[in-house]
Amino acid sequence: MNQKVASYQFPETFLWGGAIAANQSEGAFNKDGRGLGNIDLIPQGAHRWPIMMGELDSLEFKEECHYPSRHGIDFYNRYKEDIALLAEMGFKVFRMSISWSRIFPNGDDDMPNEAGIHFYENVFKECRKYGIEPLVTISHYDIPLNLVKKYNGWEGRETLLCFKKYVSVILKRYKGLVNYWLTLNEINAITHLAFLAGGVVLDKKKDKNIQIYKAIHHQLVGCAWVAKIAHEIDYENKVGCMIAAGVTYPYRCAPEDIWLAYETDREKFFFSDVMVHGKYPEYKIKEFERNGFTIPFKENDKEILLENTIDFISFSYYSSRLVCADSDIIVEQAKGNVFPTLKNPYLKEKDSAWKHQMDAQGLRTTLNMFYDRYQKPLFIVENGVGGIDTLENGEVHDEYHIHYMREHIKAMKNAITIDGVDLMGYTPWGCIDLVSASTGQMKKRYGFIYVDVDDFGKGTYNRYRKDSFYWYKNVIDSNGEILG
Ligand code: BG6
Repeated sequence: MNQKVASYQFPETFLWGGAIAANQSEGAFNKDGRGLGNIDLIPQGAHRWPIMMGELDSLEFKEECHYPSRHGIDFYNRYKEDIALLAEMGFKVFRMSISWSRIFPNGDDDMPNEAGIHFYENVFKECRKYGIEPLVTISHYDIPLNLVKKYNGWEGRETLLCFKKYVSVILKRYKGLVNYWLTLNEINAITHLAFLAGGVVLDKKKDKNIQIYKAIHHQLVGCAWVAKIAHEIDYENKVGCMIAAGVTYPYRCAPEDIWLAYETDREKFFFSDVMVHGKYPEYKIKEFERNGFTIPFKENDKEILLENTIDFISFSYYSSRLVCADSDIIVEQAKGNVFPTLKNPYLKEKDSAWKHQMDAQGLRTTLNMFYDRYQKPLFIVENGVGGIDTLENGEVHDEYHIHYMREHIKAMKNAITIDGVDLMGYTPWGCIDLVSASTGQMKKRYGFIYVDVDDFGKGTYNRYRKDSFYWYKNVIDSNGEILG
């Protein structure tokens, strides 16, 4: 009898790599015809967070502010050197994003900016030269400023029409160079960060949720259009959604805490539910009815949603969340990148100035939750820990990065080999140090590659291999067997 031997290894096809995004890395914010985007107007400092939330508007530059997207890490000029370093680590895949306003400077231009198109064409060709598969986010916290000013970003349906045009252009022009596409980065982040994730400046006189859900409808229809256009242009194209994920735990075993944790998880599942099933789920329709929100269906939105679902689910995972239904119970808050959470007494703080809590087991749970719910291939497209690194004699000893990633890779391996989850790949965040989205600083570093630039854009911008660089190279070489 032929006995099938169980495999406790990563699949041979597993896509090891790393992730960055245009808004936090490219710099060159006004070069070669690029127009301004929402990200360019988000400064460092105390106003950053209220601006990202859409509570404070910032539509013109102010002399006294520092805008970190102006410099990023100069990926625009140094991409060849960067991709060579990623190839040296053995990357199979590289997640990056396209800056929408490099392709359409105003978002609603008649013709695209050829210089912008050529830039990404060159980047993709450079990846392919080393056999690295590009995984491209179509919009990563990035929308042309003109569309913000004219239509309040995604709140206006006109932005959806401009997005369709942008998507058609890039999908046609990069046919054969890119096959893996992600729609909107962390699409659920808009519920919290309306301006950063949707270009929406909240009108205090209007209901906040109604403004945000209008924008979300346009985004969801936009994502379905991506799937439609991508599949029509090349049947080999694979389109994924991108969700800010992380299982939510109840603080107590009280049923009301369990329910709150369940509902909190549904806030993110709502987005993948629509993109996988092609329609709004009943629980959301009921919520909208209670809150007096009418989904702004127009033209053939319903058909577009239903007929153009995604091929895989991608998500970011930094940690789990914790909620408690009883406001009389005082629980300390922990720090999260985007969503607030309580401090979990069973988790250690990561060895980092930002004191995020680390929960590798939570990644295995999150993977299983997605897979049980959808039975679709999954892709972890962000994961990591931001910390302060010191460059000494050209070296950076970042054991805390290695520890964090080692534990998460073990959790992934368990999910694949023990639980049977279909995981396509892993692209840890900020594989090259870049500007932090939440703080706008450089000193919160995630990378395998150190970039010599400070919070104010000063430095040589030279690249250095950290200890984690050599460690991750071994991980990839051994297909996840040597975690040393
Ligand atoms: C994710 C975003 O939320 O977290 C990235 O997609 C971001 O853009 C990353 O950089 C890490 O967060 P931060 O705030 O530490 O940069």
